Amino acid sequence: MIKYFPQTNTFHLYNEQISYVLTVLKNGHLGHLYFGEKVSEHVQPEWFRYALFRPLTACVYEDDPFFSLEHERLEYPNFGTTDFREPAFRIRQENGSAVSDFKYITHRIVEGKPMPKGLPASYVSKSSEAQTLEIDMIDSVADLKLTLYYTIFSDLAVVTRRVEIVNEGQQIQTIEKAMSMSVDLSPGTYERVHLWGAWSRERHLERTPLSKGVQSIGSTRGCSSPDHNPFIAIAEPSATEHSGAVYGFSLIYSGNFIASTQVNYDNVPRVMMGIHPNGFEWVLGAGERFQTPEAVMTYSSMGLNGMSQAFHKLVKNHLTRGEWVKNPRPILLNNWEATYFDFTEDKIVELATEAKRLGVELFVLDDGWFGKRNDDTSSLGDWFVNLDKLPNGIKGLSKRVSELGIRFGLWFEPEMINKVSQLYEKHPEWLIGDPSRHLSNGRNQYVLDFTRKEVVDHIFKSMCQVIDNTEISYIKWDMNRHITEAYSTALPANQQGELYHRYILGVYDLYDRLIERYPHILFESCASGGGRFDLGMFYYAPQAWTSDDTDAIERLKIQYGSSMLYPLSAMGSHVSAVPNHQVNRATSLKTRAEVAYFGTFGYELDVTKMSDEDKLEMQSQIEFFKEHRNLIHHGEFSRLTGPFDGDSNRTAWMVVNAQKTEALLGLYKVMAEPNTGVKSFKLRGLDPNRMYDVTGYDTPVSGRVLMNYGILDIPSFTGAHLIEDRPVGDYQSHVIKIKAVD
Ligand code: DGJ
Repeated sequence: MIKYFPQTNTFHLYNEQISYVLTVLKNGHLGHLYFGEKVSEHVQPEWFRYALFRPLTACVYEDDPFFSLEHERLEYPNFGTTDFREPAFRIRQENGSAVSDFKYITHRIVEGKPMPKGLPASYVSKSSEAQTLEIDMIDSVADLKLTLYYTIFSDLAVVTRRVEIVNEGQQIQTIEKAMSMSVDLSPGTYERVHLWGAWSRERHLERTPLSKGVQSIGSTRGCSSPDHNPFIAIAEPSATEHSGAVYGFSLIYSGNFIASTQVNYDNVPRVMMGIHPNGFEWVLGAGERFQTPEAVMTYSSMGLNGMSQAFHKLVKNHLTRGEWVKNPRPILLNNWEATYFDFTEDKIVELATEAKRLGVELFVLDDGWFGKRNDDTSSLGDWFVNLDKLPNGIKGLSKRVSELGIRFGLWFEPEMINKVSQLYEKHPEWLIGDPSRHLSNGRNQYVLDFTRKEVVDHIFKSMCQVIDNTEISYIKWDMNRHITEAYSTALPANQQGELYHRYILGVYDLYDRLIERYPHILFESCASGGGRFDLGMFYYAPQAWTSDDTDAIERLKIQYGSSMLYPLSAMGSHVSAVPNHQVNRATSLKTRAEVAYFGTFGYELDVTKMSDEDKLEMQSQIEFFKEHRNLIHHGEFSRLTGPFDGDSNRTAWMVVNAQKTEALLGLYKVMAEPNTGVKSFKLRGLDPNRMYDVTGYDTPVSGRVLMNYGILDIPSFTGAHLIEDRPVGDYQSHVIKIKAVD
């Protein structure tokens, strides 16, 4: 998978799908040559370069007017040496200079994938699944070493990258910026696709031309945030969902990030991803080492959908860990929208009893069970049960629930503290904030200083005291406030720039400890819904609450956008009550379930208040999901059309199993339309040579027809009789089963 050509000092990373080629330039820096569709093994570096004499160019050598880094495509560009674009890193030395000149020293090609410590990263189960290239670069003036890690997977169109910086000298160095990856793609015209949003409206897709100069998205909120997801795709303008060249980039990280592009006058796009440099500095003492988070790069010649499928495989097979990779994800009932803070033990048991009767497998008790918490003004940090509400404690309640034959899960918000809490009375210094300044408010709560080990120790201990000797099999880990006044009383003045990154390392540390102690617990991450929905979190928590917005129509956009890189098995999706609590919209129980099926699936409503008719429908929805969840969570997902495409009224997506014998198609029409033209959707991923039974159609049809002619849309009102199971009206959906005829 990785070949080194000593004559040209060139490295070729390839598998059956992609090639990534880099070379050592004349001055020892690393040049990028090619990333894309697989090319023949032996590449000639000169073919990919365009060294020309140009006025106003700063050249590396006096006697070579052709060699300037400005006109090279680079791999991890230095600051201050003839390349005037954004550098990948900046390291301030003791004399104040940030100029650096890292030169290639040596490299190693290793089987498998070495893992960083304390950070999430993609992994391999067998060393044959990947190869890793480690390149050492030295700046001899600053006595610094960079090691660039490149991993290529044997059967995935993915290259991952990360960087380690080691201070091999005696000076104190200050890292001002350290991207996880930087690549100068082939010159051309491109578009940028990214996911932006806000609370309740996460991961909406935007596609715009990639313009000259610098464009960036990112977060400086202390978490990856709902504003922008750590993801960008760079697509050729002609690329569609299913065809054309698309590069996808993401970061396995949950803190502040930046994803930037810079297109120069040569039409070369430089793409970089890493920790956001705003508010970041890292002091590197003698002998110390800094490691960046890992970045993921994909290439697809099959459009955005091909890119998404590579990301999905990576998340499912190389990021999610533990028994929940394979175990069926439980169908859950969460009490949040059913009761909010207003519940008693009997009410919870009543909900769980009815949920069990209807087929639900896991009951989740959300916020409000601890301290004196009856609203959002108090008790975060006091992780001991409110015995007024739950007289038998979590132990007693979880026992009562488990005895019903349904599992029990519990909500925590480990990173937070209310001022009205015993914890704050004891440890006011544990808040993040500058004591000499006013501290801003967010949901009446404050962020605990997870840069302090003693804080993480304390929260770990308090959580263990709740979890030990109970029947807890699931934890929802919430996070509802961003970091302001970023300052830690525990860090020295020159290390305050380390706070954001140290904070997220503390979060990862707590996750690691809990997972190690409770390997069977299923974690679902949450941050006011999908506010920390990133590859970093999926290393710890196999699923995440996609959004606080449970409205089926809003969810079409949110789940469609999320599917750009996150698989269905990662997306928490619940059926909630109508009128919906976020947008006051009423959709049918059928439509709500048919959107939620394409996720982890569960309910978030008061099941005791449902009509008998709705309960019967819920029962059959649960049976349906149990029958198909293996297909949904392990199959290959494809988007057919969606809310951000030309026709925003329609969404269609499908999932096909590995054998191509079973598929589920979800069709959704937001607003009813009278007498529209005939529309059909061409299906994906089926076997062209097989015949399939399709729900609603009397005769089997071939995969070739389904993929080339397609299947008809939900009908519009034409004045004729309505087909009974496809009524016309707003917010329609239809899930169609497709099964190979033996
Ligand atoms: C925000 C979450 O997204 C909700 O699902 C719920 O858990 C609340 N927090 C509880 O405070």
